[in-house]
Amino acid sequence: MKTLIVYFSYTAGNTKRIAERVQASVGGDIARLEPVTPYKGSYDDVVHQGQEEVECGYKPALKSLGVNVKDYDRIIVGSPTWWYKMAPAALTFLSENDFTGKTVVPFMTNAGWPGTVLKDMTAVAEKNGAKVEHGHEFRFSSDSKHFDRMVTPEKELEQWINTLK
Ligand SMILES: Cc1cc2nc3c(=O)[nH]c(=O)nc-3n(C[C@H](O)[C@H](O)[C@H](O)COP(=O)(O)O)c2cc1C
Repeated sequence: MKTLIVYFSYTAGNTKRIAERVQASVGGDIARLEPVTPYKGSYDDVVHQGQEEVECGYKPALKSLGVNVKDYDRIIVGSPTWWYKMAPAALTFLSENDFTGKTVVPFMTNAGWPGTVLKDMTAVAEKNGAKVEHGHEFRFSSDSKHFDRMVTPEKELEQWINTLK
């Protein structure tokens, strides 16, 4: 089974680190979702811009992934929570690909307010033909000095990764 790991990450590299941990144990290829127009300005500017984007369901154009989703059987997709929803770049990716015959494993990071991210990622992937399994939430600190501190027990992360092997 060929696995592709795809993620968007902005604040503290939390989603990126989990994606890389998955790749280190499970193998497969990894690709970062990058909007054509990068987020600019202060953290607060981006939090504000993110709110506007999420509220109108904005799907930013993405840079080329450098891989073809068609070549994979399983796609593991990671997104941070942005305003209780998946980040706009993850919405673009899940909306614009055909996952017929493929398995999608969604995971998300949050700072304590997970909203409906996992449910929404599951719904969009299923709408585009995916069989969705093993979705998981990872909680990080909401303290701005420690955004990168994982609150979810390390063992839970390890167990989840083991289910993907
Ligand atoms: C625009 C924006 C909106 C956010 N909204 C939420 C939210 O609704 N709930 C939450 O728990 N965390 C929220 N966060 C925090 C991130 O989800 C959290 O820090 C995540 O782990 C960051 O992952 P990253 O380092 O991969 O970007 C938000 C962060 C940003 C930048």
